[in-house]
Amino acid sequence: MNSRFAASIARHLPEIIALRHELHTHPEIAFEEKWTSQRIAQYLESHGIPVQRGLANGTGLVATVAGRGDRTIALRADIDALPIHELTGLPYASTIPGRMHACGHDGHSALMCGVARVLHENASSLPGTVKFLFQPAEEITSGAPLMVRDGALDNVSAVFGLHGWPELPLGHVGVRNGCLMASTCNFYIEITGRGSHGANPGASIDPVVVAAHLTTALQSIVSRETNPWEAAVVTVGKIEAGTTTNIIPETARLIGTFRTLTAPLQRHIREAIARMAEHVAAAFRAKAEVKFSEIPCPPLLNDPAATDLVRQTIDATLGRDKRIEIPHASMGAEDFAYYLAEKPGSFVFLGFHNGNEGTYPLLHNARFDFNDAALTPGMAVMAELAVRSLQSS
Ligand code: NI
Repeated sequence: MNSRFAASIARHLPEIIALRHELHTHPEIAFEEKWTSQRIAQYLESHGIPVQRGLANGTGLVATVAGRGDRTIALRADIDALPIHELTGLPYASTIPGRMHACGHDGHSALMCGVARVLHENASSLPGTVKFLFQPAEEITSGAPLMVRDGALDNVSAVFGLHGWPELPLGHVGVRNGCLMASTCNFYIEITGRGSHGANPGASIDPVVVAAHLTTALQSIVSRETNPWEAAVVTVGKIEAGTTTNIIPETARLIGTFRTLTAPLQRHIREAIARMAEHVAAAFRAKAEVKFSEIPCPPLLNDPAATDLVRQTIDATLGRDKRIEIPHASMGAEDFAYYLAEKPGSFVFLGFHNGNEGTYPLLHNARFDFNDAALTPGMAVMAELAVRSLQSS
């Protein structure tokens, strides 16, 4: 590794690993990250880094490392965990039943604490200010817009972030221009018919049959209404209706998610779901009420110039052979997209697996754990990227 911060990173690494394990032991889900937020703030303040608390409805933080220079950039870590029961058997496994850091946000948080310490230690030669955004509720794509609302990006000219990635090899970093991750929006459809005895369908308007037709119709949006070269997904995740064998129920409920790589296609599919629900229900004499996520998450669009800066940084610190160009966008979503809708920047993937793809437990799996061996390359790239971004105009 070729980094001006190598010695500083090596010195802080044991403490950052310990912090990561401590965060892992105390997983908290979206907007409940009180202990986590408090612990991160206390850790940074104990090392002389000022922290603004209480953003994003309470658990969001902005830590500031100020050097010399007017330019300000932001680095972001997400801090929330998932409602999963951990099965790793690790000595630092979750102590909270049904809660787990199964997406590695404990690692992102510890890693950014490490970068903050390294840059703080070298603040006299830092050519500007770095804001560290510790954001709640990424898993429900709700924390980022609240951080933006509360001014986390004020005076910021570029924003960067990363996510640990089990499908990429350890020591490597994945980059991509343009769309890296999909938009996401949930839909909630309530079908109202008329209930009756199961033996008396003539007296009913059967919402179960409507739900079945509508589920099939929704699958024709991607296959028949969108272009085959434009990626999109429509998934009905849950159908709920009825109580027993001989009753036609009054209502049925479908909920699901749809993903696209562009905002226009997101609008198109939203319109199509509403249209099909209304008209399929009407064809069967029923009514459908459709609701969508209040704030749908946009596609994550990496700025090409900012991504080029990341490329140069990876090549200079880890080596060109450690840079992976991601061939296609993920249909997963990431609320870092909201920051990139406001400011130029780039989001990257940090490699985890040890040379055998498919062997590392995947994100959101009960056996997943952030790879501590990725902390050093991750900290090196992010610290160097901060400096280079502050130097660029
Ligand atoms: Ni995640």
